[in-house]
This record gives sequence, C-alpha cells and structure tokens, in this order.
Amino acid sequence: MDKIAILDFGGQYAHLIANRIRRLGVYSEIFDGETPAKDLLGYKGFILSGGPASVNAVGSATCDLGIFEMGVPILAICYGHQLVGKVLGGEVEKGKVREYGKAQLRLSSKPGILGDLEMEETVWMSHFDQVVKAPEGFKVVGSTEDCPIAAMVNEEKEIYCVQFHPEVTHTPCGMKILTDFVALTGAKRDWDLDLYIERIVAEIQEKVGERKVFLMISGGVDSTVAFLLLKKALGNDRVYGLLVDTGLMRMNEAAEVTEALKRVGVDNLHVYDAEKEYLEALREVYEPEAKRQIIGDLFLDIKDRVCADLGLDSEEWILGQGTIYPDTIETGESKHADKIKTHHNRVDKIQELCRQGKVIEPLNQLYKDEVRAVGEKLGLEKKMVERHPFPGPGLGVRILCSKGEDYPSNLEEVEKNAGVLAGELGLEVKVLPIKSVGVQGDERTYRHPAVVYGKTKDWDGLDRLSTRLTNQVPEVNRVLLSLYPNDLKVLSSRNCWIDKARVLTTQHADKIVMDFVCEHGLDKNIWQFPTVLIPVGVDGGEEAIVLRPVESLEAMTANFYRMDFDLLEQLVEKLKMVPNVSAVFYDITNKPPGTIEWE
Ligand code: XMP
Repeated sequence: MDKIAILDFGGQYAHLIANRIRRLGVYSEIFDGETPAKDLLGYKGFILSGGPASVNAVGSATCDLGIFEMGVPILAICYGHQLVGKVLGGEVEKGKVREYGKAQLRLSSKPGILGDLEMEETVWMSHFDQVVKAPEGFKVVGSTEDCPIAAMVNEEKEIYCVQFHPEVTHTPCGMKILTDFVALTGAKRDWDLDLYIERIVAEIQEKVGERKVFLMISGGVDSTVAFLLLKKALGNDRVYGLLVDTGLMRMNEAAEVTEALKRVGVDNLHVYDAEKEYLEALREVYEPEAKRQIIGDLFLDIKDRVCADLGLDSEEWILGQGTIYPDTIETGESKHADKIKTHHNRVDKIQELCRQGKVIEPLNQLYKDEVRAVGEKLGLEKKMVERHPFPGPGLGVRILCSKGEDYPSNLEEVEKNAGVLAGELGLEVKVLPIKSVGVQGDERTYRHPAVVYGKTKDWDGLDRLSTRLTNQVPEVNRVLLSLYPNDLKVLSSRNCWIDKARVLTTQHADKIVMDFVCEHGLDKNIWQFPTVLIPVGVDGGEEAIVLRPVESLEAMTANFYRMDFDLLEQLVEKLKMVPNVSAVFYDITNKPPGTIEWE
C-alpha cells in the first residue's frame, strides 16, 4: 500500500491533513516532525504540518534536512512553510499583524500542484510569523494583503510551501491542492474503510488477547460504533457496556439511549445513576479544566466501583473507550501541540492505564465522518449514525460557572475598540463578565465573549465583524449576537456553580432547541447544536442562553450556522418562556478562534 507521511509539528490541523489524504484514497500516517529521514524511506510524499511555536524560538521543532534530498514531493503548510524557509536559507520574522481567518490569495503564476487554482482564491490563515525571504531556488508565487510570501515553490525539487491551510474547509480550493499533491506523488489510491475495519478488528483481537473489555458507553455515535467493533472482534460475551448517568445528560437521555442500544443488540448494558455524586463533586467548582478533571475522574471511580461490585477482575478486564482522533490531539498528546482542553477520556488516570496497556480505543485513528461510515457499514440504523455528537462531560461543559463579575481590567478601552468595529454595522457591543475557551493560532485561549446588539439580519456582515473583533481585540475570543433583548443595559454575573436548578434550566432549553431543530428539518445542515447556559443576567436577571449551532465535517474546524431569521424569532419566543432566562444570544464565532463547546 502506498503511503504519505505527515510530519506533525503540533498543529491542531496535522490530523486533519491525514484525514483529507485518506479521503483521497491514500493511506497516510502521522510522524513526529523531527523523525529522522531514514525512518521515512518508502513514503511517496511528505506533508509538513502547522504548529503553535515560532520556528525562531529556542528549542522549537525542526526537521531532518535529509527529507529534502530524498526526491520525494513535499508540501509544507504554515509552520512547515516557515520551517522550510528557515532551514533552507531564507528568513522568517514576526509579521506586523496576526493574520487569523479568511484572506485573499493572489497568485503570480501557478506551477505544478497550484495549476488548478484561479489567480485569486480565498484561503484560511492562522499565523503571526512569516517568511520574509525565500530560500535560494524558490520562487514566490502567491501573496495576501498581510503576507507577501504566502506561497513559494521549488518546482525542480517538487517542494511546495504555503502559509495558508489547504486542509481546512475554510480554504475552498484546498482539496484541489491536496488532490494535485497526491497525484504528483504518484501514490496509488487504494486505501478504504473496509480494509481498515478488518485491520482494527485484527488489532483488537491481538491487543485484548484472552481478556475482556469493559466499555464506557455514552450513547453517542463514537461509543456505540466502538461497541459494535469490539463485539465484532470479540463476540458478545467478552464486551460489557457501562452507561454512567451523570445527571448531566440531555432530558430523558439515559432511558432513550438504553432503548436505542437494545435495538442494535447491546443487551449487556449496565446503567448507573450517579447524578447526586456528580452534583456533589461539582459544588463550588468554577474552572473549566477543574470541571473536566472531576467529571473524568469520577467516571473512573464509578467504573472501578461497578467492576468491584460485579466481581470483575482487573487483570482479566480492560477498559474500552470510544475516543476518536480529535479527542487525542486536542488534549495535547502530540509532542509539539498546545493543550486546548483535557477530554474526559484523557485524564491522568486514563493515561496511566494506557501506559499499562489496559485501555483499548478502536476508533482513536478515525475522525467523526469515518466513524459514521464505519457505523453504517456495521449496520447501525441511520438515526443513530447521524446523531449529533454530544461531549463526554455532557452539560457539565455547557453550564458555565462564575465567582462573580470577571471583566478585563481595561474594560473601557476594550469596549471602545470593539465599539468602533461594531459601529460600522450600526451595532453596539458589550463585553461579558465571564470567560470561555477558544483556540487561536493552535493555542488555547480563555477570554471574554463580546455581544453585539442592534438591528441586523446580515449574516455576511456579522461573520466579518466576528472575525475582525477576535483578530483585533485581543481580550475577546468569541462573539455573540443578542437575539433578546435588543438593548443590553445592565449586565451582571453572580457566584454560582452547577446545581440541579441550573441543570434543569439547561435541559429545558436544550429540549426546546432540539425539538425545534427536528421539527424544521435543520438537523441535516447543522452538525452540532450546543445550548449553553451562562451566568449572565440582563437588567437584573440571572441567566442567559447561548445558541451555538455549527456546520462542520470533523469538529477540528467549524462555521457558525446561519439560521433563517424568521425561524430564529420563533425559537427565541419559546426560549423566553424558560424560567430564569433573561437573554438569548447566538454564537457567531467560527472555530478557530472559538471552540465548538464553551469549555
Ligand atoms: P471543541 O469544543 O473542542 O469540540 O471545538 C470539538 C468536538 O469535540 C466534542 N467534545 C468532546 N467530546 N469528550 C468528548 O467525547 C470531551 O471531553 C469533549 N469536549 C468536546 C465537542 O462536542 C465537539 O463535537
């Protein structure tokens, strides 16, 4: 089988590149960016990924110069582009501005794999450093307004370097570049999921050996598909499912999931009611990472307890999880990656079990779209396959907590700067007294959302405003549109954590939203629709609801969904009825710079 190697410099997108190449039918594998050239013999092409560091920083990752002498085509992206610039004798410096978001690429010529592009294309940028002098033998062929060397090529050596990200959907011409790169490598397109399923099944059998698997099931697509794969590999008797009802699931979810699983043959499922324990453990906990740790650790405690109650011997049973690729990379497992958030299935205790060979994760090389395709191949009903993803920590990461008002210290200045930008659309803006998690330039951020309000139905304008606000106002990483009320006079925040009342409010709002989405057939276009509760009151109220519908393929990048404004009005009318809700906001942040979830 022909293969392409991705050299990973820690970009959140390294795995996305591999996913794209696989979709083009060529098996791709990810290597540490510093892998010696001699270990990469036989690969048909190399792609150098992006990464969070600066190539000029002391100790930052570099690559083996030998890779440039192997006669193998190379595509270098973002950090990779800068690295080629630096190590082959060009120069890299800090740019004047950070460039995040869409930019116009202008090409002066279209050599080799750029041949199918137009002379001007929209591309996605996410960088600060830039190449300011191309190495000898390279021709500069593309630029953007803020980046004079956005594409450079050494056609003779078949080295193509781009500052933008062809692998994300925000770069519409990206697949053309990747397709032509694959063609240039001459790799045969003979990789497919059927083969992969066979491989995973064989791997499960080998790794598990004579043991049995205890699988944590949430009812989402991932854990269900993981269960079916384990069942295929080991048979029914050697897989046992545990559904922990944390009390942080959707309304009636535990019961619904149990029924749905029975229909696909999951009959040895144990449901454990842990609501009280979770609420107790999360009392007076405020920080997103602390919440994630507690939720993840408690999962494991409960698992151990259930194992003990059932008399399962820990030597005989190993832990199964439905972890997929993005969960592993965003936790910062890749050597050069920044930690964005700890996924619940990557807390320390699990890492330790992984090291002991006591965890099996059949899907940890796959992306959501691939998991869904595997599910379909294994006979899972369409309704289950197409379920919106729901995070392991559930509503735990959708109910924000607060110790009281938390504003940036230079609030006035921030609101003034943001106000100038919002003013161009005739809108006003307020910064919220809370923070949420985001991801910018491959780094985790924990900053304030800004809410714009006033009269507008211009999604294009709002999209541009959102990008400009997060690019130009460093204290802000997320932008919301106020749907109700129209005027935000007095904002407040209070000391609160996750308690039963707040869970009920969120479940109530989430149910209204999910029913509405199904009723209007919006679930086909919306990839995921978190409903988030934030402890922000407007004019004396206590809570606000944030709607966060996104379009995405694989969750590594996402666009906010542009809902029809008439429909939105109907939805807001329903949400206003939820007790304690004083405002309804709509999240208009793409990922990056926002994450899909708020924590
Ligand atoms: P973010 O918020 O990082 O989320 O853009 C990307 C995707 O991952 C889901 N998500 C999780 N899934 N455990 C999970 O199983 C987690 O801890 C977790 N955190 C986020 C999120 O819902 C989205 O689909």
